[in-house]
Amino acid sequence: MKQFIVDHIQEGCAASLTREIFAVRRGGQLYVYQNECPHLGVNLEFQENQFLDSQGAHIICSTHGALFEIATGECIFGPCSGDYLEAIEFDWLNPSTITIR
Ligand code: FES
Repeated sequence: MKQFIVDHIQEGCAASLTREIFAVRRGGQLYVYQNECPHLGVNLEFQENQFLDSQGAHIICSTHGALFEIATGECIFGPCSGDYLEAIEFDWLNPSTITIR
């Protein structure tokens, strides 16, 4: 079980937790996904912690611009439309820290 401090991730922002997973905070909820585009399996971001589009409305893959719903991970635009980012289940240890099995 691994613990991650997440209180530095502000509302409407995203950040890597490791090289493989990242988290997005939106609407008071935290979402954690595998950092892997379902199109070609590459990392999503083009710069550190840049997982969201310019409006902060969707997760974006920097390679071909696929857009994913933040809350579900569903690709709603791009070459992998209908596919999903892999969601990572987690538990809250306290208001600042999550644990991932
Ligand atoms: S690799 Fe992500 S959209 Fe093509």
